[in-house]
Amino acid sequence: MQRMIPVDKLARPVDHILLPAERLRNARVEQGLSANSPMPYEEDFLKSRLHGICAGEFQAMEAAGRTLYDFPDAPWEFQLDMARQVWDESRHADIYLKLLEYVGSYYGEFPEGEVLWSCTQAEDPAARVAGINRGLEGLACDVFEQLIRLAQNMGDEVIERAVDYVLADEITHVRMGSKWMRKLTEGDPERFARAQAFQDNIDALFNFGGGRTTIEQAAHIKQRVGDKEIEIDGGITIAREARLLAGFTEEEIDRLVHGFGKSTAY
Ligand SMILES: [Fe+2]
Ligand SMILES: [Fe+2]
Repeated sequence: MQRMIPVDKLARPVDHILLPAERLRNARVEQGLSANSPMPYEEDFLKSRLHGICAGEFQAMEAAGRTLYDFPDAPWEFQLDMARQVWDESRHADIYLKLLEYVGSYYGEFPEGEVLWSCTQAEDPAARVAGINRGLEGLACDVFEQLIRLAQNMGDEVIERAVDYVLADEITHVRMGSKWMRKLTEGDPERFARAQAFQDNIDALFNFGGGRTTIEQAAHIKQRVGDKEIEIDGGITIAREARLLAGFTEEEIDRLVHGFGKSTAY
């Protein structure tokens, strides 16, 4: 049985473009945009950010489904949690499809990145959930919290409430990842360390060269969005409150803020 299917095996419409992170970065730089991800001060930020998240929700749904399928010998409760996550992520994908429509975009308007799928490539279910649920979905908490504040500043209750609803689920997914990372590696510190190392690599990958900061320390930029001038963050901020709710320790959060370091699962 083939575990860890390659990204080109994901089912997408024929006109849908999946690109490696490097090609996406190069294309952005060629257009005079920030290399790593759309920034709030860029034109089309909202469409492009919602599109990136929507693609992430699809890949999260597919990843949880693959984790369920790839590890038939894992505990039944683990499989049930993965099945529940597929259901959650499918609702999230649906919500973001509607939000794309709401801002005048559609799924497929921008290329979809492959980088999230590359984070699913672990042979061990403990490493899978460490990387996906703790690494990637921790990042989702940051991105969603920032989007909620942006929507509040814009006075857009539709985006604010829709994203808040999804964030509540993501917090439970992070907690689920921590629970299973610990349970599956019980009595096997080496296996735990390997799962942690897999997550560390993902945290480092999304550290954006140490460019992540706190909400308090982020530069505040005035920006016109439509007919309003609103305040936006100048960088990617760590959602301390949401991450604490998700069970990250203060120490783990500080390490993310101060640049990459080894974090421990609690
Ligand atoms: Fe999600
Ligand atoms: Fe999730």
